[in-house]
Amino acid sequence: MVYNGNAPSNYRDIHQKYGPIVRVGPNEVSVADYRAIPVIYGVGSKFTKTPFYTLMSPIYQGSIMDSMFSTRDATRHKYLKSSVAQIFSMTNMRNFECYADECTQIFIDAMLDLEGTPVDFSHWLQWYAFDVIGSITFRRRFGFMEKRKDVNNMIAKIDTGLQYVKVLGQLPGGMLGSLQWVLFRLDGAFQRIGMTLLPDTMDRFTKITEEEVDRYENSVATVGVDSQRTDFLAQLREKEKRLGKISQRDMINHLSNNLLAGSDTTAISLRAIFYYVIKNPQVYGKVQNEIDEADRENRLSKFVTYEECLKLPYLQAIMKEAMRLHPGVGFPLERYTPSEGAEICGHTLQGGTNVSISAPVIHYNQEIYGKDADLFRPERWQEAPPEVLKAMDRYFLAFGHGTRTCIGKNISIMEMGKFVPQILRHFRISWASPVPEWQTDAAWFWKQSGLIVRLERRVRA
Ligand code: HEM
Repeated sequence: MVYNGNAPSNYRDIHQKYGPIVRVGPNEVSVADYRAIPVIYGVGSKFTKTPFYTLMSPIYQGSIMDSMFSTRDATRHKYLKSSVAQIFSMTNMRNFECYADECTQIFIDAMLDLEGTPVDFSHWLQWYAFDVIGSITFRRRFGFMEKRKDVNNMIAKIDTGLQYVKVLGQLPGGMLGSLQWVLFRLDGAFQRIGMTLLPDTMDRFTKITEEEVDRYENSVATVGVDSQRTDFLAQLREKEKRLGKISQRDMINHLSNNLLAGSDTTAISLRAIFYYVIKNPQVYGKVQNEIDEADRENRLSKFVTYEECLKLPYLQAIMKEAMRLHPGVGFPLERYTPSEGAEICGHTLQGGTNVSISAPVIHYNQEIYGKDADLFRPERWQEAPPEVLKAMDRYFLAFGHGTRTCIGKNISIMEMGKFVPQILRHFRISWASPVPEWQTDAAWFWKQSGLIVRLERRVRA
C-alpha cells in the first residue's frame, strides 16, 4: 500500500474501518486519537524516534551523520539544537527576508516571460523554495529558476532517496537496524558494494555544503568578515565567538540539513496553497480583494514584508487550511514507546512498540475541524470560538508536535507569507492542465505533480 504512494488516504481508510488504534505491522500501531498526540510527542515525553529516521541521515566521511531531524538520541538532539535554536527564532527571520525577496524577483521575471503559456508550478515552486533555502543557508542560489531545470539533478536525487526510504522504511525496526548495520557500518569493499546497492543520494548535498563552507573561509581569509552577510552560515560562524568552536562535521550537518528539510516541505505547502486557491474561485476572489485593498491603502511594500503579511488574516487562514488538507509530511511520525510501556486509547502497549500518528489522518478529524473537515474552507480558522481554535491549533500536525516539532517552521511561514500575496498581486493564475486534478505521491514527503497553470499579468490596483 505504501509503495503505491497513497499512505495518507490508506491510513485514513484503515482507521475508518478498524477504529482509533490499529496494528499495522508486527510491532507497529497507528493511532488516530488526537488525545494521544501530547502523550506520544509532547514536551517531556520519553517516546523516541524509530530507525525509520536513520534512513534519512546522510553519510559523511564514511559514517552516518545523524542530524537534528534524524537523531534518535535525546542528548545528541539537545546538543545539536542548542547551537542553532536562536538562528531559527522568529525574531531572526527579518535577517532572512532579503534572500527570499531576491528569489521572488527572479520568479516574477520568469513568469512575466512565460505569460500566457502553460507553466508547471509543481517544478517552479520547488525551484523557488530550493533557491530560497540555498540563499538563506549560505548565500548560494543554486540557480534552478535561472536555468529553469533541476540543477545537478538535486531534486531527482532527493526523490530517489525517498523512494528507498518509502519501501525500506516499512521493515520492522529490528530488521531495519540490521540492514543499516550491513550497509553502512561495515568497512571496505563490502560497504562500497552496499553503497552501490543503496546509493547515498544525499552526498551531493554534503559536498555542496563543504564547498560553501570553504568558500566562506577563503573569503574571510582574503577580505575579512563580510558584515553584510546575515545568512545561516555567517550567523553560525558569528556564534562561535560566544559559544566556542563548532566542528566542521557539525557545521556540515546543520547546513546540509536545512537543504534537505527545508526545500521539499515548503514547496509542497506552496503547491497546496496555490492549488486550493485556484480551485476555489470564491476563496480566490476574497483573498485577492484583501491583498488589493491592502495595496490600495499603501500597506504593502514593494516586496510584501513578513510583518505586512501577518496583517492579511484571510491569507493566513488559507495557508493553514491548505497545510491542513495537504500537510508536507504524509507519513506517520513514528516513535517507540518508552521501556515501561504506555497506555494509548485504553490499550497497554509494551516498551519498544512502534506507535505513530499521521497528520493527514488527524487533520480530517471532524471532532476537531468540524463536520466539513474534508472541505477547503479557510473561514473555519476565523470563525472558530477561542476554545475550538485552540484545539485546532494544538492538534495541527503539519509541523509535528512537542519536543521534536519543526524548528524551521518560522522560515517557511515567513517565506510563504511573503511570496503568495506578492505573486497574487502581480498575476491572475488559472488552471491549465488538460486533466482536472494534480497527482500526489507520498514517500515521507507528500509530493504533488501536474500543477499546470497559466499566468496573466495584472494591472496593479
Ligand atoms: C512548510 C514547511 C515545513 C514543513 C511542513 C515541515 C514539517 C516538519 C515536520 C512534520 C517535522 C517533525 C518530524 C517528526 O516529528 O518526525 C519537522 C521537523 C524538522 N524540520 Fe521541518 N518542515 C518545514 C520546513 C522546514 C524548514 C524550512 C527547515 C529548515 C530550514 C526545517 C527543518 C526541520 C528540522 C531540523 C526538524 C527536526 C526538529 C527536531 O527534531 O528538533 N523544516 N518538520
